[in-house]
Amino acid sequence: MFCLLPGLSACDGLTRQEETKGDGYDALVSLIGRERTEILWYASFAPSSHNTQPWMVTIKSPDNWVIGSAENRWLPEVDPKNREMLLSIGAFVENMVTAAKAHGFRVKIRMLARNPFDPELLSLELQNSEREEYPLQRLLERRTLRTGFKSEDIDPQDFSFIVGGDEGFLYYPPLSTQAGWLDEATVAANRQQVDRQNVQEELARWIRWSGADARKYRNGLTPAAMDITGLAGWYVRNFYGTSDVLSKDFRNATVERVKKQVAESGGWIVITSEHNSPTSLIETGRRFERMFLRVKDRSIGVHPMSQALEEKPWSEKAAEVLMLVKPPQILLRVGYTRDYPAPVSLRMPLAAITTANKG
Ligand SMILES: Cc1cc2nc3c(=O)[nH]c(=O)nc-3n(C[C@H](O)[C@H](O)[C@H](O)COP(=O)(O)O)c2cc1C
Repeated sequence: MFCLLPGLSACDGLTRQEETKGDGYDALVSLIGRERTEILWYASFAPSSHNTQPWMVTIKSPDNWVIGSAENRWLPEVDPKNREMLLSIGAFVENMVTAAKAHGFRVKIRMLARNPFDPELLSLELQNSEREEYPLQRLLERRTLRTGFKSEDIDPQDFSFIVGGDEGFLYYPPLSTQAGWLDEATVAANRQQVDRQNVQEELARWIRWSGADARKYRNGLTPAAMDITGLAGWYVRNFYGTSDVLSKDFRNATVERVKKQVAESGGWIVITSEHNSPTSLIETGRRFERMFLRVKDRSIGVHPMSQALEEKPWSEKAAEVLMLVKPPQILLRVGYTRDYPAPVSLRMPLAAITTANKG
């Protein structure tokens, strides 16, 4: 699309509105019915690191689905133990269970994964049940925000509302020692990461600079998803490519952007897990998503910033500095926001994340 007026939404690249329900939707409706297909479609809007959307669903029968992960959507450089992959799968499962309840199904879950690299992670069985009221719009409107955070503390009542009685959530207000450490550690870990060639190359493989690439893959990070909009967005969509991610300028700009981001924040929320097992990580991803689905109701923006848990020495020090007994798994910069723009990250069609009747 040629754009003369940067800033207009049509000038910000491929948007979600341009998408239909996508390839494979109708075929799945024929196979498992519209309601079950809708559940899968809603689940696909879960968050994932670099928006890799690592989930793969094998439809064994209309009511028995196996959730696994696709190896070509792992991030071996920043996530060598598939820790973040499992958190993302947890978010996907939470969306699925939430959408299933709203469509009149209860979901029985059986864990299959012994280690984070197992191709099959969990088995789900749908059973008819009472339909539960839930605003499913929340799944479609949830988004990662990276700019526009106010520096005010999060009100304790709002914190209680978003956590909803779940365990393992800690809030560090902006002026706390721990928030200060998280700000500094995040900048330092980012600085270390931009110097790691393999990390930059991996990131480059997940950036969809052009509209054509965004349309082709429907995953990864588009300029709009990275908040590069308006004239700058138009420029990078047309003139940027993989090699730019490896340039010194891009690396420096990344660190500068992170510095600005941590300077505007209403503090940090850290989510801990019981253990480091696949079961525990998937459960943590579920709690994370439950909270993420509630934040917009209180105008709270959430920005996962994972680098301090990806890079040593910060990853090894985090629990002690944050005075945590249980392992921290998710670091979220949070803050009240004036605007809550519509989501911009793309999703793969159901045809790319489902297979039928295998095994
Ligand atoms: C486990 C996990 C780790 C993430 N880490 C980061 C991060 O370090 N920096 C960042 O900007 N976004 C991070 N994200 C947010 C994803 O980039 C985002 O979910 C994805 O691009 C899809 O966008 P959406 O959340 O707006 O739907 C993370 C998400 C998950 C689930």
